[in-house]
Amino acid sequence: MGKREVDFLKKNGLDVEGIDREALLAVFAKEMEDGLAGKPSSLMMIPSFISIDKPVKTDTPVVVLDAGGTNLRAAVVRISASGEAQIGAFSKRAMPGTQGELSAEAFYDAFADFLMPIVGESESIGFCFSYPAEIMPDCDAKLVQWSKQIQVPSVVGTMIGSGLLKHLAQRGYRRRTVILNDTVATLLAGKSMGVARNYSAYVGFILGTGTNTAYVEQNAHILKRTDLDKRGSMAINVESGGFRGVPQSQFDKIMDAATIDCGHYAFEKMISGAYLGWLSTTVLIEAAKAGLFSAQAAQKLAALKPVQSKDVDDFCNGTMQPGSPFLDDAFGAADGESIVALCTAVFERAAVLTAVNIASAIIKTGEGHDAARPVCVNVDGSTYHRTRTGQFRNRVQRELRQMLQPRGIAYELIRVDESPVIGAAVAGLM
Ligand code: BGC
Repeated sequence: MGKREVDFLKKNGLDVEGIDREALLAVFAKEMEDGLAGKPSSLMMIPSFISIDKPVKTDTPVVVLDAGGTNLRAAVVRISASGEAQIGAFSKRAMPGTQGELSAEAFYDAFADFLMPIVGESESIGFCFSYPAEIMPDCDAKLVQWSKQIQVPSVVGTMIGSGLLKHLAQRGYRRRTVILNDTVATLLAGKSMGVARNYSAYVGFILGTGTNTAYVEQNAHILKRTDLDKRGSMAINVESGGFRGVPQSQFDKIMDAATIDCGHYAFEKMISGAYLGWLSTTVLIEAAKAGLFSAQAAQKLAALKPVQSKDVDDFCNGTMQPGSPFLDDAFGAADGESIVALCTAVFERAAVLTAVNIASAIIKTGEGHDAARPVCVNVDGSTYHRTRTGQFRNRVQRELRQMLQPRGIAYELIRVDESPVIGAAVAGLM
């Protein structure tokens, strides 16, 4: 990267090499402890009431609903005795609330209608809900707030499972739901698919439209709950996207101010797919103001709407698609190089922070000290698996090694296709 770009980014608080990884790990650990103890913390540390040791009914159909950041998906899933998942009757539509504001009634109607073709297949619904929700001991869930810019404000603070069940009952179906976060589902999918391996602990990590982490904690450490069997353990939804320990650059602040949940989910806004393109756009616009581009390019950039993360990734890797906002004669060769340099720094920072996040969860399990029994980290999400800019995955893995090898912690990153769906099925079959 040219000196001009480096200086500009540093001056505005974006300095990839200067990130103090060890200091961030320490803050992450402290915030996790505080969240578990019910002290003020940017990490919600939500108990899932799902223990990973319960038996799972095999060869039994279960209905699965997967409410993600972009899509709502449904399927009927069976898990075989050997842990194989068979996914049938799969369907998908846009997640209600992503295409403009909705009322709670319209939201649940959309869910219930969507389930109608398969609801008769099972009494149980494994419901993967990829938003911050407080889980109740009966596995219903109260929505704390929306993330990922979803617009159904009247559902915040209400019980999601009961809302859905009411709308199913209106259609003549009495059902049971088990609600779990997608990272808890991902953790369960890793456990279920990795049955043959001798892992000492499990982590589920997602980096897609949004980001989050789950790991298994001993109940005795969940100090904010006094009603738990101290001998047991359960998955914890960290809601790591809310982490507030990383100083925001000027660009983070400018972008955050334009989001509908300004002040929330600062960490998610630095690393996940919903925001990396937007943040890159913000950097480019500010760089244009600071004179880093030609006059024609600066004029184009001044009017640039938030670019999708994928369009930035494509541009930086020479695979620009028709319709790309960068496909414009105003951008000369030098402008193109500056765009790549500046956006790459945004993605590199995301990779470093992703590694800090994963390492923090691995360390928190307290396991992995016997090389024969590593910690299993099931990683899901298109941003992690598909991003090429900044050699994203390699960089995350290199950074992770640098943090964990000196600590003598053994871990293994695995990938299970359709993890949220499989994990929700496992939970519905417990
Ligand atoms: C949500 C989490 C979710 C994550 C990954 C975040 O925006 O708050 O609950 O696990 O995205 O989908």
